Amino acid sequence: MSSAVRINDLCVHFGRQQVLHNVCMEAPRQGITVLAGRSGSGKTTLLRALNRLNETFFHCRTSGVVELDLGRGLETISPAPGVNVRPLAQLRRLVGMVFQTPNVLPVSVERNLALPLEVVAGLPEKERGLKTREALMSVGLWEEVKDRLDMPAERLSGGQQQRLCLARALALEPAMLLLDEPTASLDVHATAEIEDLLLRLASQYPLLVVSHNPEQAVRLGERLIIMADGRVRQVFERGQVDGEAVARALADAG
Ligand SMILES: Nc1ncnc2c1ncn2[C@@H]1O[C@H](COP(=O)(O)OP(=O)(O)OP(=O)(O)O)[C@@H](O)[C@H]1O
Ligand SMILES: [Mg+2]
Repeated sequence: MSSAVRINDLCVHFGRQQVLHNVCMEAPRQGITVLAGRSGSGKTTLLRALNRLNETFFHCRTSGVVELDLGRGLETISPAPGVNVRPLAQLRRLVGMVFQTPNVLPVSVERNLALPLEVVAGLPEKERGLKTREALMSVGLWEEVKDRLDMPAERLSGGQQQRLCLARALALEPAMLLLDEPTASLDVHATAEIEDLLLRLASQYPLLVVSHNPEQAVRLGERLIIMADGRVRQVFERGQVDGEAVARALADAG
């Protein structure tokens, strides 16, 4: 199966601390790749290496090669002398990211989508309206918010805010999606809703999802990557393990 992500020998330092150690991994084009591992094992840093977000921290140094399929086969996104990489703004638009804590903008539900469509994608007003509706429908939020699009987005529930952030990433027509613990702060019902949504989206986009929950990792993962101390410790393919085995592997990974 062809890969959406291929990482070779990735090292990330924050100041003197090395946070990722020679990480090598691939994520398939089809289905969800789940990243699991203890707090501090480097999962978020690994996700941020895929849209070069680590570079926003001035004391961060990155080496190694990250290749992504953003629509024309694997291409390197790692800047190096003599290598032409995509402009950063384009890369970040194509690699959609949803953070663990929903980061809705302090504006209305509608503006949360219209603003990036205007500023990032440069769409005219009429198209923004259509895209906004489409994006809200794709995350199952349209019926819940269509009569209160003017309401501040902060008044939505946690699960609704998480879906709004996902809608915002989708509206920009990404080539892949990164989700950092998308259900960490949600109840069982909202978690099930988001999981269904992720499984549906996985038929359209490669998804990389961080999860702390072994059962969820098994439910979602086509491939499951267990990290420990900034290293890839184990890789499982769908069907190889159940929740208990993953919990044991996570405990062993320490
Ligand atoms: N911007 C930063 N500056 C300095 N150190 C950082 C920065 N971001 C992460 N780190 C350090 O890198 C290590 C890995 O952090 P990271 O956030 O990637 O872990 P994680 O696996 O996502 O953890 P969690 O499950 O708690 O979210 C930690 O020791 C953390 O303190
Ligand atoms: Mg994290």
